[in-house]
Amino acid sequence: KRHLLESADLDRADATLVLDTAAQIDQALAGREVKKLPTLRGRTVVNLFYEDSTRTRISFELAAKRLSADVINFSAKGSSVSKGESLKDTALTLEAMGSDAIVVRHSASGAPHRLANWVRGSVVNAGDGTHEHPTQALLDAYTIRQRLGRLEGVRVVLVGDVLHSRVARSNVWLLHTLGAEVTVVAPPTLLPVGIGSWPVDVSYDLDAVLPKADVVMMLRVQAERMNASYFPSAREYSRRYGLDGRRMATLSDDAIVMHPGPMNRGMEIAADVADSVRSTIVEQVGNGVSVRMAVLYLLLGGSPA
Ligand code: CP
Repeated sequence: KRHLLESADLDRADATLVLDTAAQIDQALAGREVKKLPTLRGRTVVNLFYEDSTRTRISFELAAKRLSADVINFSAKGSSVSKGESLKDTALTLEAMGSDAIVVRHSASGAPHRLANWVRGSVVNAGDGTHEHPTQALLDAYTIRQRLGRLEGVRVVLVGDVLHSRVARSNVWLLHTLGAEVTVVAPPTLLPVGIGSWPVDVSYDLDAVLPKADVVMMLRVQAERMNASYFPSAREYSRRYGLDGRRMATLSDDAIVMHPGPMNRGMEIAADVADSVRSTIVEQVGNGVSVRMAVLYLLLGGSPA
């Protein structure tokens, strides 16, 4: 494959190859003082970010640098985008300067797909609107496999603002492909219209599903994409759909708690839950570097052009 545009494009063999490659990279770098491989020497990766990011942008930068690629960080703020330059012209400009791969985050769903039609190099979707965020799903699957030893048959409960969540969409498709069973819990107003066609069970009762969960994946309430008319009050949301210490105590002994970040502490997840031994939130961030190294390595072929 040349691009990574959505989890729905990955079959089980593709996804497993990414996870296994990330594990091999982790093994190869374990205990090394200099965490760097020569694999992408001479290649150039551009991080093209039209939306803010902490984890994704920095971990793609680190991933490319650890593979010895040259990295350009492009932020729409401060660029000629403010003069009206289009996504297409921006991408063609970057490619003219020698980029081999473009990692793109954009507020418009489908922007990475458009980009893939315009450039010769690889395109990686780093989050497009409310559509998909496939490397987040891959790093989440990697974290689950690392903690629980398997993905097949794992019972995942995905909680919160599913309507606006590209993380939810990518996770649902990838986890389904990898044999996990997903239950979505959300207020009816924060479920997408097409939820009936997703390979998930739907529940409105978080307390009922928690004792059977192996993984509880909390989603950020995306206030910036929200219309007040379909959001319950913060207090009401937290009471019905937030994960606090009392609810965490109903989980089975080995169950883990995940969150893609950034978190609204005290809203969808209580601070003591986020910081508990069940929480994999910091591990997810670390695993993001290995998984993104694997993605860049597999897409760019690992040898100079
Ligand atoms: N999880 C995630 O995509 O975080 P950022 O928005 O900080 O990249």
